[in-house]
Amino acid sequence: MNQFDELESNVRYYCRRWPVVFSTAAGATITAEDGTRYLDFFAGAGALSYGHNNPVLVDVAIEHLRAGKLMHSLDTFTVEKRRFLEAMQQHVLAPRQLDMVVQTVGPTGATAVEAALQLAQKITGNRAVVGFEGSYHGMTYRTASISASMAGRALVAHVKEFVALPYVERATEQDLALLERTLRSSVDGQRIGAVIIEPTQGEGGARPFDPVYLRAIREHCSELGVVVIADEVQAGVGRTGPFFSFEGSGLDPDIVCVSKSISGLGLPMALNLIRRDLDRWEFGEFSGTFRGNNLAFATSTRMLETYWTDSNLEKSTELRGHAVRAALEGMSAQFGDGRFTVRGNGLLCGLDVGDTRLAADIASAAFERRLIVETCGAGDTTVKLLAPLVIDDDELTDGLERLGDAVDQACSVR
Ligand SMILES: Cc1ncc(COP(=O)(O)O)c(C=O)c1O
Repeated sequence: MNQFDELESNVRYYCRRWPVVFSTAAGATITAEDGTRYLDFFAGAGALSYGHNNPVLVDVAIEHLRAGKLMHSLDTFTVEKRRFLEAMQQHVLAPRQLDMVVQTVGPTGATAVEAALQLAQKITGNRAVVGFEGSYHGMTYRTASISASMAGRALVAHVKEFVALPYVERATEQDLALLERTLRSSVDGQRIGAVIIEPTQGEGGARPFDPVYLRAIREHCSELGVVVIADEVQAGVGRTGPFFSFEGSGLDPDIVCVSKSISGLGLPMALNLIRRDLDRWEFGEFSGTFRGNNLAFATSTRMLETYWTDSNLEKSTELRGHAVRAALEGMSAQFGDGRFTVRGNGLLCGLDVGDTRLAADIASAAFERRLIVETCGAGDTTVKLLAPLVIDDDELTDGLERLGDAVDQACSVR
């Protein structure tokens, strides 16, 4: 029995998929302690969009540590937080004409969602929430309850004031009518206070919503005074191309939840962007010890200054996304008789093979070829690709070739 079996809880999960001991990492590569190198198309479940140990960000972190700067500061003022707020304003909010303030929250995406739901309830006085099938918002009591993808799990508590609408790829009249009817209704005696949506679903299977539908959400919510929360924890910070996956859709959210890749270096950090006129928090009404990760403020600032002062990263992510989806279409045609479905935007891509066992076999055949990919979506039938945005073209091609071999092997033994 090894130390992990003996000393770690049974709840551990990813290590069962990739049963090696990782040691070092750089860019899109992770190296195990026996020296085997793996290409990482998992990227910390989306927390490592800027690669492992991105040298520009490592330099900032080392400078920060050596200079004796604050590490932890709750929500007191610090030099690093001021720089970070300025960088967010200059490189993210102002260029997108977003008049929003930043709320730093505890270090996880789930905390950001909790805070967003509480603020929406405070603004509207209404507790009920509309969400979507396939969504994932975290593992706390309330975030798991509104994560329709968790619905089958026996231990997940269920808040009553929640209704999940279907995912909408192409909005029909019926979808739009159901949306409007639901927003005007009550759930368990409570009127709807918030709609929470991942404009491109991550765990749900790399599924973008129809912009027509996103616009309809905005219009109805504006009319009814319902708060629109965009959960950009996985799809944001450039994963789908633009900084936010909702850009250009007309969703125009009131609150945006951001986490995972926002520190650039994979450090714990989460925040909400709140429309200035909806920032109805009283002092200290939402709190948390780990809201002031100054190391993460410093690396995040450098990430924004390095990658978001022009549109180069956004364009390259979109181009690479096209290349990845073309390769996945090729695999579907060659090995799946064209029956697989390719989804996604930018470098949040999925190959839905329509079969749980086959998707798992592809992921393990990929691991045998030293490529790390996970499965997701309803029934875990989608192989999800989250290559780092900063991956080299050669590595991207190499990873796709390994995946093609894995799909070939998994399909041929069936
Ligand atoms: C869209 C989305 N929201 C929220 C979360 C929860 O984030 P965390 O695991 O940091 O609590 C996740 C995590 O995968 C996510 O993908």
